[in-house]
Amino acid sequence: MVPFLRILGIETSCDETAAAVVERDAEGHSNVLSDVVLSQLDEHSAYGGVVPEIAARAHVEALDELIEEALKRANVSLDDVDAIAATSGPGLIGGLLVGLMTGKAIARAAGKPLYAINHLEGHALTARLTDGLSFPYLMLLVSGGHTQLILVRGVGQYERWGTTIDDALGEAFDKTAKLLGLPYPGGPAVERMARDGNPDRFDFPRPLVGEARLDFSFSGLKTAVRQAAQDIAPLSDQDVADICASFQKAVSRTLKDRIGRGLQRFKTEFPTTFSATGEKPALVVAGGVAANLELRGTLQALCDKNGFRFVAPPLHLCTDNAVMIAWAGLERMATGAAPDALDVQPRSRWPLDSHAETLIGFGKRGAKA
Ligand code: KG4
Ligand code: ZN
Repeated sequence: MVPFLRILGIETSCDETAAAVVERDAEGHSNVLSDVVLSQLDEHSAYGGVVPEIAARAHVEALDELIEEALKRANVSLDDVDAIAATSGPGLIGGLLVGLMTGKAIARAAGKPLYAINHLEGHALTARLTDGLSFPYLMLLVSGGHTQLILVRGVGQYERWGTTIDDALGEAFDKTAKLLGLPYPGGPAVERMARDGNPDRFDFPRPLVGEARLDFSFSGLKTAVRQAAQDIAPLSDQDVADICASFQKAVSRTLKDRIGRGLQRFKTEFPTTFSATGEKPALVVAGGVAANLELRGTLQALCDKNGFRFVAPPLHLCTDNAVMIAWAGLERMATGAAPDALDVQPRSRWPLDSHAETLIGFGKRGAKA
């Protein structure tokens, strides 16, 4: 028996304003009662990226109504929730302030505990809500702001095994798209173009491939794409398609090498845990880049080959949402973790693994996932 818990979650760390209600009953069954997300894509697309000031204002305008909507759809009132969970980092400070302050105000007014949630912890724990995973497992977070391979040992216990030393993978997709004249966000556009392209036309670099450390690097790849585009300009549609396909192939090969090594390390560190239970170890993928079908195929094949289960939560729970924040709050409350004091501050940088050293570059927008 576990305690029945129902949590209201709030997410405002980047360009999605979101609120959700999630509960878990005494038998351990979890339920997403509501999941409301308002994307600011249209506000930012003219600028080719997220503009912090515009994002913060848009959160202010939308959040109150979104929370009301989330409670309404869940058919509950604030009296019926056990705690408020609000993202308090990492991310854009203006947006974080809006969400966390709102969370504090509701917690104070309704007399409920507040959990200040690390956005990355939300991504890390989602697979337990969607697929009931048990600890430990590996998580690959690939978004516009982060590229990290994380060992999830337990609630609050995370080890960063690898991170990008320059651009995040989503950022590499976005920059590649931009220099090829494709729309923002670049990932879906590059993937679409790549379908008609020749992946073998350009031999793009695969930085760090073959190295024992589990980090990633994508800025050299972006530079090589720029060089190739300049060499053959003006570009025909076929040229653009071939560059996209070759770019995706280089990314795919890079992930295969880096994550392949990560799976080996996991098997070395936990040799008996899984053979004893008969359960396969798992690799979870999260973040917007997880939408890419070619990269998913690569990871699926890699997992099959290494005896791992490949877990990709539904896309709307892989990208930014408040369900994952409510769920992280629920998991923390269920372990008996004390709530946060109401003077808790937002943190634009907040590594999930406090022991991991900061590498030089870790994605656009400072510290966004
Ligand atoms: O997690 P997410 O929605 O938001 C943040 O980064 O905050 O991820 C967005 C990123 C963008 O860089 C976008 O270009 C990338 O995910 N992305 C993709 C695809 N769909 C979105 N990258 C590659 N292929 C895709 N199909
Ligand atoms: Zn995120």
